[in-house]
Formats: sequence, structure tokens, C-alpha cells
Amino acid sequence: MNLQPASEFTYEQLTDAYNETRVDYMVPMPMNVARLMEYCRVYDVSLEHSCVAVEEDAMLGLGMLGVREERGWITRLGVLPAGRRKGTGSALMMGLLEAGEKDSLDTIWLEVIKGNTPAHQLFLKFGFKETRELIVARRAPKTQLDNTIFDKVKRITTLNHEDAIILLSHREERPNWLNETESQQNVRNLSALLVELKNGGRGWVTYHAGLLQLTRLIVEVTVGDPAEVTETVLAVLHQRHKRQDSIAENLCEDPKWIGFQKAGYFDSFRRIEMKRPL
Ligand SMILES: CC(C)(COP(=O)(O)OP(=O)(O)OC[C@H]1O[C@@H](n2cnc3c(N)ncnc32)[C@H](O)[C@@H]1OP(=O)(O)O)[C@@H](O)C(=O)NCCC(=O)NCCS
Repeated sequence: MNLQPASEFTYEQLTDAYNETRVDYMVPMPMNVARLMEYCRVYDVSLEHSCVAVEEDAMLGLGMLGVREERGWITRLGVLPAGRRKGTGSALMMGLLEAGEKDSLDTIWLEVIKGNTPAHQLFLKFGFKETRELIVARRAPKTQLDNTIFDKVKRITTLNHEDAIILLSHREERPNWLNETESQQNVRNLSALLVELKNGGRGWVTYHAGLLQLTRLIVEVTVGDPAEVTETVLAVLHQRHKRQDSIAENLCEDPKWIGFQKAGYFDSFRRIEMKRPL
């Protein structure tokens, strides 16, 4: 078996191999070529730093590396089911860490779905330490909303993509790779709503409104009770987008999460964020 840079393969080949590694995955996430290309663009995945494990022309597995300044992010790691437990996952990890070292990165980040013991054990073995647990939450559309919440609202301001990026760049909490301003900047057509409450509370939400789904939701509370302001901001958002279902990725279990739940979001699955120095 040898490792080759992913840049030596086409997106079609990488997509096929990736899908093969995920046939028995705990959260099904099939990809197509356009989505993998979009994923690499939005999350700054470098195919030159990413690795494919090959044996006699057959792809055994792959792993990808996102690169931002001195930070790296391991993603899409997987080995085809028939070839597991033979050291391929470890070889891919070594290849990705070496690629990061060569580029003088100082920290490598990743996430693993809670309950994915093989991958979690692999990352612990490679010296990764847990930093926090993140929630992937979803919400079904509701045509009937609790209108009493709108009595709390004093003013709503609609903002465009550029304003959304400015809001995101002023966040106080450290965002996860998916939600970093760099990721959001790479997304086209973000929208934002700034909501002021009569009691002085203030917060905003940035999001991408697709035809069927709201994605890339990020809420920040700048003044007031985090749960109340989050619930109100989300109520305003969902009043304007009644038909779409929503997904909010990598939320922390903090008071804002209570506001998300009050607005109808439920815990779909959890990720464990991990990091190690290089
Ligand atoms: C996680 C995965 C990449 C591991 O690949 P692999 O080729 O089987 O890994 P290796 O043979 O190099 O094993 C290395 C270490 O991983 C851990 N590991 C791998 N499979 C494991 C299992 N079934 N149970 C517990 N630990 C396991 C062990 O720590 C192992 O070290 P050990 O052999 O000294 O015990 C593979 O199981 C996979 O592709 N899973 C599906 C996709 C996935 O979960 N990707 C990760 C997304 S974050």
C-alpha cells in the first residue's frame, strides 16, 4: 500500500472512494461530485495536502486536510470496509500529519461523531485531545407559530451577505472550523437579521436560505438573556421562512441552545471536537 496526494485523482474518483468508505456509516452522508467540490472550496480543503491510500491501482481509503494559516483540519477520513484494521487508517493519519508538518502548521483540528468508537480510538491513539462537544440540530417547518413572542420585538433589520460577514467576524466565542468566518465567507448569499427586543435584548442570526432548507445558521446574542434572545431571533427568522426545514451545525451546549430548543430545534447527533499540536 502507498499514499498518494489526492490532487493526483479526479473529483469523480475521490467521490466514489469517499462514498465507499461511508456505506456502513452511522450517519449516512452520501456525496456527489458537485457537493464534494463545494465542500473543498468552502472549507479550504487542499487536495495537495490530502492523501489517498492505494494498493495495486485500487483505492483503499482517503483523508483530507483543510488548511488556514497555521491551522489544519482533518476531514472525510475513511477506509473501505473490506480493508479496515490493517493499518490503512493509521497510514492516512500519518500522511496528513506529515503534510501539515511540511507546511509548518502548528495545530490540527478534527471532529468525530459521538459514538464512532473506531475513529475516536484512532484519534486518541494519534494524540488528539477532546476540546468540546458540538450539537447538530434540526428543525421541521411549522406553519403555525406562537405569535406572542413577536410582542417582544422592537425592531428587525435585514442585512446582506457583506454585513453578515462583518457580524460573524466580531464573534466572541471561538467558532468551530465549519462555522469560522473563513467558511462563511466562502458561502455565497448569506443573509442576516438583527433583532432588538423591547426589554433591551439584542441579537442576530446569519443563515443561508435555500429553496427547501435553511443552513449555516449562526446566532449571537450581544445584549440580554441568551435563551430568550436566541428564541426571539429564531422566531423572527422562521416567521419569514415558514416552508423550509433548518439545520444548525456545531452548536455548543450553552444557554443559547435552550433558545434553539424553545424555537423547535432538536438534537440530531453530536460531534466531539479534538485537536493536537504539530
Ligand atoms: C476509523 C477508520 C478510518 C479506521 O481505519 P482502519 O484502517 O481500520 O484503522 P487502523 O487499522 O489503522 O487502526 C488504527 C487504530 O484505530 C482504532 N480502531 C480501528 N478500528 C477500531 C475498532 N473497530 N474498534 C476500536 N478501535 C478501532 C484502534 O485504536 C486502532 O489501533 P490498534 O489496531 O492498535 O488497536 C475506519 O474504521 C473507517 O473508515 N470508518 C468509517 C468512516 C469513519 O468513521 N471515518 C472517520 C470519520 S471522523
